[in-house]
Amino acid sequence: MSSCSEIKKQALKKVKGAKNLKELDRVYKRYLGGKGEVFLVLKNLKDFSENKRKEIGKEINLVKKDIEEAIKEKQEALKEIAINEIIEKDKLDITIPGKKIKKGHLHPITLTLRKIQEIFQNMGFSIIEGPEVETEWYNFDALNIPKDHPARDAWDTFWLQGNEKLLLRTHTSPVQIRYMEKNQPPFRIIVPGRVFRHEATDASHEINFYHLEGLMIDKQISMANFKAVMEHFLKSFFGKKIKMRLRPSFFPFTEPSFEIDISCVACGGKGCSVCKKTGWLETMGAGMVHPNVLKAGGLNPKDWQGFAFGMGVDRLIMMKHKINDIRLFYNNDLRFLKQF
Ligand code: PHE
Repeated sequence: MSSCSEIKKQALKKVKGAKNLKELDRVYKRYLGGKGEVFLVLKNLKDFSENKRKEIGKEINLVKKDIEEAIKEKQEALKEIAINEIIEKDKLDITIPGKKIKKGHLHPITLTLRKIQEIFQNMGFSIIEGPEVETEWYNFDALNIPKDHPARDAWDTFWLQGNEKLLLRTHTSPVQIRYMEKNQPPFRIIVPGRVFRHEATDASHEINFYHLEGLMIDKQISMANFKAVMEHFLKSFFGKKIKMRLRPSFFPFTEPSFEIDISCVACGGKGCSVCKKTGWLETMGAGMVHPNVLKAGGLNPKDWQGFAFGMGVDRLIMMKHKINDIRLFYNNDLRFLKQF
């Protein structure tokens, strides 16, 4: 049996070394528990002489008190540490930046369409939409492209199965007719929308893409008005003055017809790989609305005249951002889309 002072020394050392409440509890049991060291001393007291008993009894009681006190003190200290740890763990640091919720954004085509629409709205154009599934009449006949006319082959068409008269619109020009039927000039509209072509895909062709049609009708609208509108549009869209030229061309629904080229946005017209060294980029078709088209829309060509144009929105974005493959718009590759 260890001497009282030895027990005390060891116990206090163990109390001091206890790292947590569990360890401290073990120390308590070892020294003050039912079969602990102090108990053993008390149990063995009967073997001593009365004097010795008194002496040791007194001493061990003091030791017991000291150990109890030390444990109590240590217990308080450990409790406080434990509480602090919990507080520390759950601490709310309001200076830490919040977790950002990842938000997507609009597709580059949608963004561009919105920008284009804003520019035309500022010039007094209304935005009109039409159906993607069209009738043969609106997509072709009413636009002065009769059934067996070779010009029809220029629009590779998806015909809808089981119905010869229905198709996926190949351009947004049919909305010209739909609008003329219901509205009296003067008017100016643009028609953005998805169009479909039955053709092989490559870097510059997709089976579906976006068109922007324009139509302005009044008593004396001419190609000079078209040039003014278009120059303003191109300058606003590309953010710099863009030279344009009109080349004679053919469309069944306009007479005369033009292809519109703009000075290459990559090299400014000097000639580079983007413009194939010509200095020009083809952007759209345009012309004076054909009298037959006005008639099909219910307007008298003797009273009304105007211009129409149609451009590929995808192509326009490709020019602006120097994108070399139209298919990128439809592949849903986030590495591409995130750049806008
Ligand atoms: N609809 C023509 C096309 O599909 C574009 C165009 C529209 C041309 C209006 C002239 C006038 O290419």
